[in-house]
Amino acid sequence: NKDVYILGIETSCDETAVAIVKNGTEIVSNTVASQIDSHKRFGGVVPEIASRHHVEQITVVIEEAFQKAKILWDDIEAIAVTEGPGLVGALLIGVNAAKGLAFAKQKPLIGVHHIAGHIYANRFEREFEFPLLALIVSGGHTELVLMDGHGSYDLIGETRDDAAGEAYDKVARVLGLPYPGGPQIDQLASEGNETINFPRAWLEENSYDFSFSGLKSSVVNTIHNAAQRGETLNKEDVAASFQASVVDVLTAKTYKAAEHYNVKQVIVAGGVAANQGLRAGLEAKFNDTLIPLLIPPLNLCTDNAAMIAAAGFVAYEQGKRSGWDLNANPSLLM
Ligand code: KG4
Ligand code: ZN
Repeated sequence: NKDVYILGIETSCDETAVAIVKNGTEIVSNTVASQIDSHKRFGGVVPEIASRHHVEQITVVIEEAFQKAKILWDDIEAIAVTEGPGLVGALLIGVNAAKGLAFAKQKPLIGVHHIAGHIYANRFEREFEFPLLALIVSGGHTELVLMDGHGSYDLIGETRDDAAGEAYDKVARVLGLPYPGGPQIDQLASEGNETINFPRAWLEENSYDFSFSGLKSSVVNTIHNAAQRGETLNKEDVAASFQASVVDVLTAKTYKAAEHYNVKQVIVAGGVAANQGLRAGLEAKFNDTLIPLLIPPLNLCTDNAAMIAAAGFVAYEQGKRSGWDLNANPSLLM
């Protein structure tokens, strides 16, 4: 059995990322050019700036990925690229780079769903066992996905409004913290106490859906009301109270779904999986059960291309191929 090397490309948001992965499970090189510094002063990702950076960076990052991997184009079996969801102008750069390279080098092309990528980031840590439940928590997503096998994704719950990471970023902004706010709130929360009882949106009895906009508004109102009374709330306590509400709901719903579907593994993916409070909450909950919990290391939680190559490898093995009509799809469904 010959080793299969997949080149992965990811440009859905503000990271220009290229990676080479062996057999879907081994990272050979994983290069990420982050644009955070360019977006910081605007308090969030500016789509037009993101696209321009991707154009500047993409060829540099591809070359770097090959240099670090010490392998040649001849060794590459296929090219996997994020086709969506994400920012359309950003996605277009990766998709067109992948198409151009696939055409020039005569390699198969595979479009990958960004969330499938986040899920497959966990496969570098441990082999999957099905059925498997994935909690995806990022700046754009909060989803529970049930998998019966490789490449099979069944969406059982999702946010009805804001994504978890979006709520983190918005609350951070109100607290005057720089973008991206998630890691900052995480840090503050570890120094504070849960002194405010913010709402938890449980929704209907059997729903695995989420909602974070009510929580976000409650935090914003609490801060503004205090300001009107001439008080300033302790930022650490606000962060700890907000985080407790997010972690409670994410943990409880994930646990309930894991039990209900009798899964063999629970995996966590997306930028918010880096959150210390969420990690601790999930670990505490699943510790007393027989269900193994996988959370990827920090550098694999946030956007990268190794995860896209890993998900692309599975699609490749299953014979899935994209045509030359592959296009960026900002609202691609799972
Ligand atoms: O997966 P990701 O890199 O990009 C998207 O696909 O969205 O996730 C980025 C999101 C941002 O909202 C960021 O604030 C959040 O993940 N994030 C965190 C932490 N680290 C990143 N949120 C909470 N706690 C963290 N430690
Ligand atoms: Zn992401």
